[in-house]
Amino acid sequence: MSPFHLQTAGRGKMQIINYAAWIPTEKAPLEVGTAPYPDLGADEVIVKNRAVAVNPVDWKIQSWGGFGLKYPTVLGEDIAGEIVEVGKNVKALKKGDRVIAHALGMANGHAYGGFQLYPRLKAATVAKIPGGLKFTSAVVLPLSISTAAAGLYLKDNLGLEFPVLKKDVPQQIRDVDATTEPGAWTLVDVEKEKTKRPVLLLWGGSSSVGSSVIQLAVASGYDVFTTASPANYSYAKALGAALVLDYHNPDIVAILISLLKEHGAPVVGAYDSIGSETTVRQNAAVLHALGGGKIATVGAAPDGLPGDVKVGRIGSGNIVSQEGGVVAKKIWQEYVAAALEEESFKPAPDELVVGNGLYYVQGGLDRQKQGVSAKKVVVTL
Ligand SMILES: NC(=O)c1ccc[n+]([C@@H]2O[C@H](COP(=O)([O-])OP(=O)(O)OC[C@H]3O[C@@H](n4cnc5c(N)ncnc54)[C@H](OP(=O)(O)O)[C@@H]3O)[C@@H](O)[C@H]2O)c1
Repeated sequence: MSPFHLQTAGRGKMQIINYAAWIPTEKAPLEVGTAPYPDLGADEVIVKNRAVAVNPVDWKIQSWGGFGLKYPTVLGEDIAGEIVEVGKNVKALKKGDRVIAHALGMANGHAYGGFQLYPRLKAATVAKIPGGLKFTSAVVLPLSISTAAAGLYLKDNLGLEFPVLKKDVPQQIRDVDATTEPGAWTLVDVEKEKTKRPVLLLWGGSSSVGSSVIQLAVASGYDVFTTASPANYSYAKALGAALVLDYHNPDIVAILISLLKEHGAPVVGAYDSIGSETTVRQNAAVLHALGGGKIATVGAAPDGLPGDVKVGRIGSGNIVSQEGGVVAKKIWQEYVAAALEEESFKPAPDELVVGNGLYYVQGGLDRQKQGVSAKKVVVTL
């Protein structure tokens, strides 16, 4: 049956009509139309969607084509809403729970796309959110969490330590951290610490992905040295970055090399959340000067990098498909809901709501394509 045919919920429930913002063919504008009410797998949930966020990949697919998709399909990775149905193997979630989810439509087809009223979701990338947290604030997180987690924790990427909840951090470490306001760290403050924490270099600390990288890496025990525009220094520091430098400075690579050498703590690798050829080369130049290391990048590895630098390309869906799904379990099942509840992980960046209803999703893609700075484009439903 064509997905454009009206279809309503079966399974003996009240009749529910689903709608989606379809991309009917490659590179076409989105069209709002009815969509099949989804089937439900044993390890899945169905959510009544309340808010979606827009990511660069959505307009990239629409503008560039490719990505191996079958059309018509439904784009969208970030959703927030209430669970309406729960598969029989899913024990940690129940009907009525308020959740965020990374919708895996690119790998699994249109029923799993985020830009619809009732997306079908793998429970592996669903987490409850606190009662007081608005859907519009929380929906900024899912893809950025998965992407940050893939780059930081998969062994083919940086393979770092998993994050620890604040309540599980030993008291003496909390006491040391409490002496410094999280938003007020400077290099000098870092050097005053008795034991220097290993450093993660992060390119793009004010991006959506970078915002989750900072928070996860800090909770994993690393100091984050990052880059952003000066207007976003306080933003990145408030998320926990130890040091923020302006990537527009033509001497940025030399400055980072000198600061990291002077600081002296081991550098565990670089996370490139921008993924341009320039940013991969900049990260590579810093690591090479420090003796080599690994880069996890959202982009591709250009030719001619120093031999002592290894580059791994990040795929957000790999947290489910690789290493037996352990990264998805550690982050989505064991960390996200609890960290949001204890407020050690914050929804960031702030949402930029561009409208209410599926008809506004195309405008959301257009707005994201224009570029944002420490903001996430959101449509309420
Ligand atoms: N492979 C995957 O699975 C995956 C998943 C998600 C995203 N991605 C990709 O990752 C990239 C980032 O996505 P996003 O949603 O985080 O983007 P975003 O939030 O829209 O990125 C905007 C931010 O990028 C920063 N920025 C731009 N150029 C920079 C540079 N040269 N150095 C440092 N910061 C720079 C800007 O910082 P200032 O405003 O401070 O200047 C701005 O805050 C996109 O290319 C996206 O397609 C890949």
